[in-house]
Amino acid sequence: MTKYLITSALPYINGVKHLGNLAGSLLPADVHARFRRQTGSEVLFICATDEHGTPAELAAAKAGCDVAQYCERQHVIQSDIYRRLNLSFDHFGRSSSPRNHALTQHFFARLEQNGFIEERTLNQVFSGADDRFLPDRYVVGTCPYCGSDRARGDQCESCARQLDPTDLIAPRSAISGAADLEVRPTRHLFLRQTAIEGELREWLSSRSNWPPLVTSIANKWLNEGIRDRCITRDLSWGVPVPKPGFEGKVFYVWFDAPIAYIAATQEWADADPARRNWKSWWLDAPDVRYAQFLGKDNVPFHAVSFPCTLLGSREPWTTADIIKGVNWLNYEGGKFSTSSGRGIFLDQALELLPADRWRWWLTANAPENSDTDFSFSRFVTDVDHDLADTFGNFVQRVLSLVESRYGGFVPGEGLPSPGDDDLSTRIRTLLDHLRERHEVLALRGTADDVRAIWKAANAYLVARAPWTLLKTDGDQAASVVRTAVNLVGICARAAWPIIPEAAEKVLGAIGDLEAVPAFPSTDHLTRIPAGRRIRHPGPLFAKLGADWAATQRQKFTA
Ligand code: 2FM
Ligand code: ZN
Repeated sequence: MTKYLITSALPYINGVKHLGNLAGSLLPADVHARFRRQTGSEVLFICATDEHGTPAELAAAKAGCDVAQYCERQHVIQSDIYRRLNLSFDHFGRSSSPRNHALTQHFFARLEQNGFIEERTLNQVFSGADDRFLPDRYVVGTCPYCGSDRARGDQCESCARQLDPTDLIAPRSAISGAADLEVRPTRHLFLRQTAIEGELREWLSSRSNWPPLVTSIANKWLNEGIRDRCITRDLSWGVPVPKPGFEGKVFYVWFDAPIAYIAATQEWADADPARRNWKSWWLDAPDVRYAQFLGKDNVPFHAVSFPCTLLGSREPWTTADIIKGVNWLNYEGGKFSTSSGRGIFLDQALELLPADRWRWWLTANAPENSDTDFSFSRFVTDVDHDLADTFGNFVQRVLSLVESRYGGFVPGEGLPSPGDDDLSTRIRTLLDHLRERHEVLALRGTADDVRAIWKAANAYLVARAPWTLLKTDGDQAASVVRTAVNLVGICARAAWPIIPEAAEKVLGAIGDLEAVPAFPSTDHLTRIPAGRRIRHPGPLFAKLGADWAATQRQKFTA
């Protein structure tokens, strides 16, 4: 049987992430993991904090603390936020773990044995004032392409171009602000991706059905020509390079971070070595299907660089069967930005509302085919309509009826009417479609289909109007209410991967809660028996309203 390995891009440790990070990788990966568990598959869902590199060091310096301590603290903060967002990782590890240090060094050793590592001398920016080299984000300055004065040594935030620290105009140190920088030679190690290119191309062509966005980014890189990649840095925080002459240098963060997908799986297995075998997921594992979830800026690292590491090791590592890359989520007409604190950060989101509304909106509006704009007004219109008026209202009407007319017990009278066959056909079609959407990793499509199921359930209730039938045909009314209670269960099960908290509350109310609620089928139309005690869950989603949207917008964009 196929086993599903699922990873979400590793969030950087440098502070609490924003809604865009949730929408781009963490949440879609979680929805998919939940769906696969629902359909009975063996699933391993892995994530970790990405703790090396200049973002971590700079954030620690800004916070005025030691980088190791900073990472430890931020890891706990991020873990807690993801727990409250109901992200169901099997393990949430750390790229700075001893396991990742050892595995990164292992990959390096293999690549070196296979002749894929080359030493080169580079000219790098050195700051006398700071007495050190300034790689990547340690240099800031003016972008040579768009003129933004907020460009960093690795990338321009404004035009998103990848940069080299020596490209910047008027460069200065991000640590001290010193502008008296010089360029000095320093020795570095390159991964000879050009020597692995043939295998990489073969590997890429063996992968099919990737989203067009991912394929086009991967092809762009191939067409521009694969380049050898510098995998070391003049930094002290990171995985040390185990090679004479390279003391005091570490691997580039993008070399060790994806390796942490594997190392985090080792950590997961370490917690229970008797039952868990990390190799069965990662080494010589033909029964594993591996899906990676990430934002579009991460595509080159997952479609080109990481595969080069894996293929170049000449060991039978599991590689991605599919990369689900998405576009950007924008914020009220501009970009989310961690460094300038623009947008809604996940701790703030959870202070405003529990997880489900965010999860719903970000899935239903996932930036799959183009960038998508989050605005408070769209958010409120959508969640009020879908969650309060459609799902919440249906559950409310049905369960209130059971309470007020049947003393809280599912009524047993009456036989199903011929109309119920139509319902069954409709539900089967919708569920088949929903399953298929999940299987192809469609995001918006899954929310669309769940909404369609909720609407079909509402339509059934309105068409059969049990409150009217009660006056004329008590048996029929009871039969319709019984079916409607079962529809409540189907609606909740279908929604569980996206809004697990509300779904579990509803399934609990109808006495049908399981640790992993099975994916619904038409058998569930007669699952809840007559006589079952129903406990009304109370209102699920109070409406937020336009005023709430206006208040939040003002608060967050002030
Ligand atoms: O872009 C980012 O947020 C990176 N921290 C993603 C790393 S994914 C992986 F390869 F580790
Ligand atoms: Zn620029």
